[in-house]
Amino acid sequence: MTLLLLAGTGEARAIAAALAEMPGLAAVASLAGATQAPESLALPTRVGGFGGEAGFRAYLAENWIGAVLDATHPFAHRISLRTARICAELGLPYCQYLRPGWMPEAGDDWTWLADEAEAARHVPEGAVVFLATGRSTLERFANLQGRRLICRQIDPPSEPFPFADGEFLVGRPPFTVAEEEALFQRLGVDWLIVKNAGGAASRSKLIAARNLGIRVGMIKRPEQPEGCRVESVAAALDWVRGLA
Ligand SMILES: NC(=O)c1ccc[n+]([C@@H]2O[C@H](COP(=O)([O-])OP(=O)(O)OC[C@H]3O[C@@H](n4cnc5c(N)ncnc54)[C@H](OP(=O)(O)O)[C@@H]3O)[C@@H](O)[C@H]2O)c1
Repeated sequence: MTLLLLAGTGEARAIAAALAEMPGLAAVASLAGATQAPESLALPTRVGGFGGEAGFRAYLAENWIGAVLDATHPFAHRISLRTARICAELGLPYCQYLRPGWMPEAGDDWTWLADEAEAARHVPEGAVVFLATGRSTLERFANLQGRRLICRQIDPPSEPFPFADGEFLVGRPPFTVAEEEALFQRLGVDWLIVKNAGGAASRSKLIAARNLGIRVGMIKRPEQPEGCRVESVAAALDWVRGLA
């Protein structure tokens, strides 16, 4: 049997590196192809969507997939919900690696948002807003007109900024606290909007916001699958060892 690792996070890369060293394990990784030049993984890797539910089912069968470890991003909930449901139906072991969400600490000034559209209820007109939420969900901020929007993305933009007052900013994580502070100061950021992705690497922007007194709009996580879930790379590897 072959283990399928659904990747797309830094932790998935760490898991792939450890799986590649696991004796007797056959494993393959999968990336959605969301970024143009992703860092390579230590496992054989297929890239691109499976072609919907039917394509995913066919992939599982054709590649003798015997278990799925899902290490996709906490906001990539469609792939997680679908995979968990199909695996349950087929009797395939499935486990989700989900890093713990962030919680505010002393000095943080966070407003919890149910979704992107809710930001407009809190962010005043004229504010400079740094969107650390990525290009793919930028359209969801259409009701934030009257504020200056800066959207950070990994790849250079392929089209003009979709709103009247705003710009794309290209940057590949991770960023240090000092880098984030310097950037936010240079741009005169009043509000930082982030998804509650969790994880130490991307927490630096939240620490920078706290240090500079910048308000944070924290988008809550979407629904996650029920069932097997681990919160650390070590626990994910233990789950794989337990499959034998
Ligand atoms: N959402 C975020 O904020 C975020 C942030 C950082 C990284 N990512 C990564 O970017 C990828 C796409 O995120 P998303 O929010 O668009 O996901 P999504 O909404 O849950 O999934 C959309 C579609 O992308 C394809 N897909 C997602 N992950 C895949 C994988 N690992 N391998 C093959 N196909 C995959 C599937 O296409 P088919 O239906 O054709 O199979 C899926 O139906 C994920 O792998 C995620 O880990 C997402």
